[in-house]
Amino acid sequence: MKDLLRTNTSLNEGIEKLLNIQAKIESDASNKYLAMASWLDRNGFAQTAAYMYKQAEEEREHFLKVFKYITEAGGIAITPALPEVQQEFASFKEVFEIALQNEIAVTNAVNKVVAKCRIENDYATEDFMMWYVREQREEETNARRALDLFELIDEDSATGKFQLDKEIAKIGAAQ
Ligand SMILES: [Fe+2]
Ligand SMILES: [Fe+2]
Repeated sequence: MKDLLRTNTSLNEGIEKLLNIQAKIESDASNKYLAMASWLDRNGFAQTAAYMYKQAEEEREHFLKVFKYITEAGGIAITPALPEVQQEFASFKEVFEIALQNEIAVTNAVNKVVAKCRIENDYATEDFMMWYVREQREEETNARRALDLFELIDEDSATGKFQLDKEIAKIGAAQ
């Protein structure tokens, strides 16, 4: 029995490192969305702010999910340091341009973990990471949909801001 316990599989070091990076990325994403929510709130976009507060909470969940997995898989989960995040934005539209850029970067990080899992034959972690692959497809779609609305509705028109605020918030509510 003792020997059996000793053969307990441990997490590959490289994968452990990438998972901790992923945890940090998700935690950072939560803080970035929180700063966006604050900017939207103080600039009169109450509905979109609510959408972003929700995004921030979801990213926190993504962070915790990977953080707990690291320990469960036999690794050491490292609490990420909080970095400075962008607090000011040039326009309503810029918030979503940056949000999409961030989501694309997160997708690339997720893909990197999956690629490493395949090299190391860690199919359990690959299976775990597929949830993030699917999640990223959804998040990118939502960010692109929000940006599409800026093509349809003029941000600078009298009712544009009001309309955009309402329509973007619906993207989140549709889920
Ligand atoms: Fe995420
Ligand atoms: Fe995300």
